[in-house]
Amino acid sequence: MFDRGGKKFFSIGGQVNNSSSQSEECLERAVQAITKFEMNTIAAPICWYQTEPEEGVFDFGQIDLVLRKARENGLKVVFLWFGTWKNGASHYVPGWVKEDKKRFIWAQNAVGAPTRSLSPVGMETKAADKKAVEKVLSYIKSQNGDGTVIAFQVENEPGLLGTPRDYGQESDTVFRAHLPEDMREFLQRLEEGEIFSLWKGAGGGVDVSWKEAFGLYAEEIFSAYCFAKYIGDIAAAGKKVYDIPMYVNVWVRETGNRIPGIDYPSGGATSLVLDLWKYFAAHIDCICPDIYFSDRDTYQTVCSLYQRQDNPLYIPESHADDQNALHLFEAVERYGLTGIHCFAIDSAIDNEGNLRAECEQFRHAVKTLSSMRPLLEKYQGSGRIYAVVQQECMDSMFLDFGDFWGRVYFLNSITDEAYIHLDNCHDDAAHVQVRGKGLIVYAGNGEFYLAGDGFKLVLIKKDNMEYITSSLRGFKYLNARNQEYKIVEEGRFDEEGEFVSNKVRCGDESDMGLWVYHDVGLVHAVVEL
Ligand code: DGJ
Repeated sequence: MFDRGGKKFFSIGGQVNNSSSQSEECLERAVQAITKFEMNTIAAPICWYQTEPEEGVFDFGQIDLVLRKARENGLKVVFLWFGTWKNGASHYVPGWVKEDKKRFIWAQNAVGAPTRSLSPVGMETKAADKKAVEKVLSYIKSQNGDGTVIAFQVENEPGLLGTPRDYGQESDTVFRAHLPEDMREFLQRLEEGEIFSLWKGAGGGVDVSWKEAFGLYAEEIFSAYCFAKYIGDIAAAGKKVYDIPMYVNVWVRETGNRIPGIDYPSGGATSLVLDLWKYFAAHIDCICPDIYFSDRDTYQTVCSLYQRQDNPLYIPESHADDQNALHLFEAVERYGLTGIHCFAIDSAIDNEGNLRAECEQFRHAVKTLSSMRPLLEKYQGSGRIYAVVQQECMDSMFLDFGDFWGRVYFLNSITDEAYIHLDNCHDDAAHVQVRGKGLIVYAGNGEFYLAGDGFKLVLIKKDNMEYITSSLRGFKYLNARNQEYKIVEEGRFDEEGEFVSNKVRCGDESDMGLWVYHDVGLVHAVVEL
């Protein structure tokens, strides 16, 4: 989804806490954390109330501050527009919007009580938000000659909380009428998906009401229609001013419960209404799930729902924790992850400036991603990237590289001391006991790149079965010793994307397989084919 001067860019970033892009002090802490993680991007809000304190009067100080801090630290920037909506509410709108309740209408619940969200059918609100976004983007464009800003998030987790739809008069009139023309066109073009099935299941008519078309889900689908059109219009206007990647983030519905407006904001681009959002907000390049789930199943389900032909997977918010440190590698391999950010980056360090212990594994995962970045950009979606993740009770993995099979041994499960040998700095228990994780890239022609923690790879060339099963090849210890390496080295990619070697591994250091640990950087090996 990201692009730097026409080239793919795998963004690894930290999003600052909601109120942290207002002062130098807060931002400094966020930058410190980002630097400790060795990330390449900072994501920071631009608050509407601060940017347009009086209607038509703009203050871009927040943008200037973030840009200065990013440039001082060699970081890219993703700006988040906290405009009409932030987490299903409208707390970030300026005072002049909050005060004029006639001009800027608020969504109401079923008993007529106002919610904390402006209405998605409020055309005056949309016009005002759109003008502000145009000004903001025009300013960003004028300041972005060096390409520091790589993307713009339009609103934040939009939708309605406390009600499945706006029951106010203007919205109610549209809801009670038959489906509008553009909605009919959309439905008639659909061929599959959840909305399609619901609609067909309810008869598939177009000259019908929202209720008749979608039954129980009518309110949510109606809200999504209103939100997608509102935000789609803002993005379209914004793109005319400055054509940079734009995305919408989602408070997803893959939770324990699934009640719109209660468990997640109704009308946001949840998996139920993704087709609709892609259609009505076509200028949004990517619809992105915020993934805070620790369990692998839900994490992967969400990835699988949002990675589509027409939608690359980018995770704009996640936790900097042990689980994410494992799951993200599978997201790279299976779902072509194009970037990942974690939320509340400035909370990842303590008051002494030390990275919190609970973020350590995530730091290692970031290190792996960073060291592999040019490879991820090159091989994304090619099937050449392999995730290594040690699941519960797993002692090894078997990978098929085409020309080779690969046996991954997790160091914490190897019992043979001789076979565990790494090097003079990495043989003690601390290095060996971590849960294995990382990535392997097979570039072809016997060339491998590996990074991560706690595993080693032993290759088995797929020649003939007699040779493979001879004692020289069959026994893991002998096989590890009999690899036909042209080279095994540790190193990194430089700014131009060239591999720079720091150390060549030979003898004992390569005889027991290709091993990784996060502080050795990237391991590069070429094996005879
Ligand atoms: C998701 C929101 O998008 C963030 O701004 C923040 O409020 C987090 N939730 C808090 O967990």
